[in-house]
Amino acid sequence: MVERRLTEQGDNTYLTAGNNAEARSGDLERIREQSHAFNIHTNAFYERLNSLGLGKKARVLVDFGTGTGGSLPILASYAKHIIATDIEPEKIEAGKRFVKAEGLNQTTTFDFPLGGIASLNLKSGSVDIVNGRLIWQHLNEEVRSNEMRAAVLALKPGGLFVAEDMNLHTWNLQPSTETFSWFLRKLIELYGIKGTEAGMGPKLRSLCEDNGLEVVAEDSYVIESRADDSFKNIHLGIFMAAQAGLINEERGVMSAKQFSEGMVQLRKDVLDATRSIYAPQMTQIAARKK
Ligand SMILES: C[S@@+](CC[C@H](N)C(=O)[O-])C[C@H]1O[C@@H](n2cnc3c(N)ncnc32)[C@H](O)[C@@H]1O
Repeated sequence: MVERRLTEQGDNTYLTAGNNAEARSGDLERIREQSHAFNIHTNAFYERLNSLGLGKKARVLVDFGTGTGGSLPILASYAKHIIATDIEPEKIEAGKRFVKAEGLNQTTTFDFPLGGIASLNLKSGSVDIVNGRLIWQHLNEEVRSNEMRAAVLALKPGGLFVAEDMNLHTWNLQPSTETFSWFLRKLIELYGIKGTEAGMGPKLRSLCEDNGLEVVAEDSYVIESRADDSFKNIHLGIFMAAQAGLINEERGVMSAKQFSEGMVQLRKDVLDATRSIYAPQMTQIAARKK
């Protein structure tokens, strides 16, 4: 129940900025920047897989929920052909532009289908790697199991499932502020978050194992953003989205007015150069189809 609320697509502003054109372009920008900050860690994880003899020479790789294509420069070194999927046409278009601008299409071929893995009707056993960064947490349980089933079916025996998702509980502002702690308390109150329960990151292992995959590598990292770091704005965006459910007055946790006033203060707090945000802690996993 708790998990479903956090991952419902309808009210997740992190996932999409809705129909407001200006907000949507802000969203694209945010996802693009966010991707760069995660890339160093994604790259390190792929290098580790490579050193384990995994992930080498993949012929076909599916990047599920590719967004604006932020991880494609890394993935392109591991695949001859990439199927980069996303549910949002704007992101698909941005991904295509990015691939061209980076010249990635000189060594790797790309398809950019709209939708998830399940809608692709991929031939069973035709894919070497299914990659998904910051995607599984956005799906409700039903969509997640459908997509996961499709991913596993599409993988070749020995093929790799690679995922990266966040552990929500680690959001932290140092030194903290009254508004930040207040939001956090409300979040805990609303979702009953304890320890690592809330995020998808800690659940990736069971997602793999429940679907018959053998986990071969696991890692985690924390991103800290420092004073005047543009990444702080992204953190704020993610923080807001994590709490998007709070906007809903019907849930009785805070009124829309309290939320918007809180956000104004929170923005000031996080842009204060004396503070750092630690967020999010990410889990990385790689699992092999037996
Ligand atoms: C946080 S972004 C991550 C983008 C990219 N993987 C990265 O790490 O930079 C999540 C992406 O998942 C996409 N998405 C959400 N639900 C989806 C679904 N059911 N099928 C395909 N893509 C989906 C969103 O449009 C968004 O671009």
